[in-house]
Amino acid sequence: MPNPPHPPIAPVDYDVVQHGVYAKGRALPPAAVQRYMDIFADHLPERRPLTGVDLGSGTGRFTPALAEAFGGPVHGVEPAAGMRRTAEAQARHPRVRYLAGEAARIPLPDACADFVLMFLSFHHVPDRAAAAREIARVVKPGGRFILRSTFRDRIPDHWWRGFFPRSGAVEEAMFPSAAEARAIFEAAGFSTLESVQLEIPFEGDLNQAVERLRLRAVSTFEHMTDAELENGFAQIDAALAAGTIERKPTYGDFIVFARR
Ligand SMILES: C[S@@+](CC[C@H](N)C(=O)[O-])C[C@H]1O[C@@H](n2cnc3c(N)ncnc32)[C@H](O)[C@@H]1O
Repeated sequence: MPNPPHPPIAPVDYDVVQHGVYAKGRALPPAAVQRYMDIFADHLPERRPLTGVDLGSGTGRFTPALAEAFGGPVHGVEPAAGMRRTAEAQARHPRVRYLAGEAARIPLPDACADFVLMFLSFHHVPDRAAAAREIARVVKPGGRFILRSTFRDRIPDHWWRGFFPRSGAVEEAMFPSAAEARAIFEAAGFSTLESVQLEIPFEGDLNQAVERLRLRAVSTFEHMTDAELENGFAQIDAALAAGTIERKPTYGDFIVFARR
């Protein structure tokens, strides 16, 4: 049965809670980061170096790897000062610099980038059409924009989803549909090249996955009550003790656009 409509979602300010927990709560093993680089390489021009922008770079989870994989420089643009501070402390790289800015105000010149990546940051942008125009401004003609996002029409079935029954409705309110995202970027001067759906294996140890989730470094949780979250974690603890949690893979979507 479809979820009932959810009221509009307020923006998440990553300087309030998330900056203190994100790097630890959302850490990925190096092989998982490299897997993304290999996948992105299939969709980016072959020449090196490529100048990139990691837009909504957060704690720099991918920014140094982008510089390593594609040569750089890579500009990590991030509005939350706390997230940038963590990136500057923990994700330094000689060909990366972190800049204050946001998707609708990118502090970079016109046509300077071979690619822009938004990795799970587009849904936080208040004016998505303005952001698309701004991304079109900084990407070179023929350059690429990679939009890694969840889409409302394909909410992933994470291993924890069933413990937080309202999380699916919350995410449907947070994320655009794939068609909406395409329309926004096509109107701003991009052509859609490909929609990619990848399977993401369950990474590592289940106990560690629970401990990471307990840090609540998932913006979906910021739209849920403490009672809902406490109830969900109590159920997770019981299921962990009973050995009934399924280590199931999930999936991730991205859309590759070319600047016309
Ligand atoms: C889920 S985190 C993703 C961070 C990073 N891309 C990653 O995958 O680890 C979302 C990030 O988007 C940032 N963000 C929020 N509003 C934004 C905006 N208008 N433009 C760009 N980034 C934004 C947040 O501050 C946060 O760091």
